[in-house]
Amino acid sequence: MQVLVYPNPLLRRGSVDVTRFDETLAATARELLAAMYEERGVGLAAPQTGIHLNLLVLNPTGDRAHPEEEKVLVNPKIVRQKGRAFAEEGCLSFPGIYGEVERATEIVVRYADLQGAEHEATYHDFLARIVQHEMDHLRGVLFIDRLSPADKVRIRPRLAELERRFGAA
Ligand code: CO
Repeated sequence: MQVLVYPNPLLRRGSVDVTRFDETLAATARELLAAMYEERGVGLAAPQTGIHLNLLVLNPTGDRAHPEEEKVLVNPKIVRQKGRAFAEEGCLSFPGIYGEVERATEIVVRYADLQGAEHEATYHDFLARIVQHEMDHLRGVLFIDRLSPADKVRIRPRLAELERRFGAA
């Protein structure tokens, strides 16, 4: 499983809800986690691998030795949020690019697990930030869209470099 890099147009495509909670879904979630650890990330959304399902995985430790910190969210929806804070983000689809993004500091998320059971969970701070970042990917929204105008100018040369390396010929 390969993580797609900007400017791959598949990163801009919206995803659809999961309807089949089967072994294929569980296997996809395991592969997403493996790819996330391989790339040293803390979160990965299915569309970043060309799978356009509302599915994301994360582990705030980024460490496969802490599987108890792993989360798999299927069809997540934010039902409440509060607080705003800026912090630096990066993205496995934008190697070498970082910038400050404003996010809610507390979110309540309704989601399904891999068996299709519904849950509601409250996430704070870093965890809330990861979930919001990964949920953006499900709609084709990328963290660079949320940077300040000054940061958008600052990263332009690096984006151009990714376009040269990974863009269509
Ligand atoms: Co990302």
